[in-house]
Amino acid sequence: MSRTLAILKPDCVKRNLAGEVIARIQKANFKIVGLKMVRLTKETAGEFYAVHKERPFYAGLVEFMTSGPCVPIVLEKEDAFEEFRKLIGATDPKEAAAGTIRRDFAESKGENIVHGSDSPENAEREIGFFFSERELVELK
Ligand code: RTP
Ligand code: MG
Repeated sequence: MSRTLAILKPDCVKRNLAGEVIARIQKANFKIVGLKMVRLTKETAGEFYAVHKERPFYAGLVEFMTSGPCVPIVLEKEDAFEEFRKLIGATDPKEAAAGTIRRDFAESKGENIVHGSDSPENAEREIGFFFSERELVELK
């Protein structure tokens, strides 16, 4: 079993799609071991996406991620990060495969509904960014 971090982004929460997206995640057999609602600040969003600091879309990304509450979720599954990236699809919904969450719900490359960690190392770092160990449940 491994863990990954999902974030339902502000567009997902604002458009009242959180329930539908969580249902998709659960139907794909991910187990939720932590979940909360947070409002990121310029500082926390900037730190979370610091790897993109030099990219042209960074300022817009920080603005978007602070535009409303979002919902970080810790998921457990075998090969969690790869499986979750498959479930959400490519960054740009126009390029995302049929049946993926971004293809079905996202409106643009910037506002793309959901985040998924892109490696086991980043998953651990990102989980620690939002959750303390005591906020994560033991499923058995
Ligand atoms: P994420 O980190 O949110 O799961 O997304 P990702 O791996 O698929 O894409 P990444 O390259 O890490 O980019 C992070 C987020 O920045 C926004 N973005 N906008 N307008 C653009 O060209 C552009 N490129 C990236 C998206 O919100 C993307 O998810
Ligand atoms: Mg990424």
